[in-house]
Amino acid sequence: MDRYAVIGHPIGHSQSPRIHTLFAQATGQALTYTAIEAPLDGFAATVDAFRAAGGRGVNVTLPFKVEACAYANDVSERARIAGAANALAFDGPRCRAENFDGIGLVRDITANLGQPIAGRRVLVLGAGGAARGALQPLLAAGPERLFVANRSADKAHELVQSFHALGLGRGVLAAGGWADLPATGAFEIVINATSASLTADALPLPAGVFARDGLAYDMVYGKGLTPFLRQAREAGVGHLADGVGMLVEQAAEAFAWWRGVRPDTRPVIDQLSVPLT
Ligand code: ATR
Repeated sequence: MDRYAVIGHPIGHSQSPRIHTLFAQATGQALTYTAIEAPLDGFAATVDAFRAAGGRGVNVTLPFKVEACAYANDVSERARIAGAANALAFDGPRCRAENFDGIGLVRDITANLGQPIAGRRVLVLGAGGAARGALQPLLAAGPERLFVANRSADKAHELVQSFHALGLGRGVLAAGGWADLPATGAFEIVINATSASLTADALPLPAGVFARDGLAYDMVYGKGLTPFLRQAREAGVGHLADGVGMLVEQAAEAFAWWRGVRPDTRPVIDQLSVPLT
């Protein structure tokens, strides 16, 4: 049977084995998918061993996504722009790298949540790896404006400048700190790509950043109503979502890339969802 795995550190929390096993059952694909914890200094050795044992592909999660990009010898444009990979495919000496996180986010927002990105104002909070991975797919979806705000404004400016230097997002993509938000006006889609929800920290957001008929999206999943989502609800935002749909959609993209068949995501999202209360 073809073997796949997710590699990270820690890995115990990963839902990927469950998701891919459900996909395999639903599509009749014969494969196994396990979770592997690599030592912090042993990512490449762990992947090498998995390949030597016949592994066909892996998903890569924190903290190895940047290293995964460097490990591969055939890196997609999407992964290169994201500076990170979350999926590898092995074919003899060839190792292809892809990044499906951003496309998973865009699919969840547009296809599952029914919120168009084209022509709308989108705010991304955070300027770390999660934000970087989302920017190019969000830009490709055609927003009127894409603003990146971060606690350290410098980091947001650097991130946006690196996109402008590649000729991406000119006239659409801009950056600032929290202090710049009161002047930006309201956004129809506000995405929390900081890691603040993991520590239950609230962000200093003015209520005016949320358009009332818009969407507030927290990339974390399984945490219920995070402080960010509570802020959005209190500001009167009509649609709230956590990152479970993004997680399942990026998995479906990887599954389709490896196996040539795209599973139906809705039943899996329904199984993994927790109420936002
Ligand atoms: P990830 O890969 O999850 O994006 P990261 O690269 O370490 O992780 O980035 C974490 C992001 O969350 C950063 O944008 C960070 O802001 P700073 O650049 O100012 O550090 C943001 N972040 C983390 N904890 C936060 C908090 N309590 N309040 C606001 N922003 C926070």
